[in-house]
Amino acid sequence: IHEQTLVAVKPDGVQRRLVGEIIQRFEKRGFQLMGLKLVQPSRDVLLKHYHDLQEKPFYSALIQYMSSGPIILMVWEGCDVVRISRMMVGDTDPALAQPGTVRGDLCVHISRNAIHASDSVEVAKKEISLWFHRNELVEWESCT
Ligand code: CMP
Repeated sequence: IHEQTLVAVKPDGVQRRLVGEIIQRFEKRGFQLMGLKLVQPSRDVLLKHYHDLQEKPFYSALIQYMSSGPIILMVWEGCDVVRISRMMVGDTDPALAQPGTVRGDLCVHISRNAIHASDSVEVAKKEISLWFHRNELVEWESCT
């Protein structure tokens, strides 16, 4: 299955200079980078991105945290990339994330968990169209 996913380095990850390491992990795994940008996300787009979490007790803290600095947004493409990216990212709570995962290696607290990856193919499509214009995504020539 050839698919795309949205991966974001959250404000804490950018501030802690983890962007290069995170990109490198996805490159080395063999996925193809289709889009990449650094943005200061607007509240509006964050409210849409986290729409499903609006009833959660940590919702307003989450929006505030995600607004606290620039984030890196990436679209990665490849075979089974949604599931494999989630595996590479590790448990939502870094304290539970396995060593070898981004969160298991690079952070410790659930409210500063460094990275986002779409949790299904359907969600990935929505998130990619929320954050990227079509003309911001490249089309690599197929090598097959
Ligand atoms: P993520 O899974 O990428 O998207 C939802 C985010 O909400 C999650 O990462 C955390 O950053 C945050 N989150 C989830 N649960 C909690 C929690 N119990 N306390 C604080 N933040 C949380």
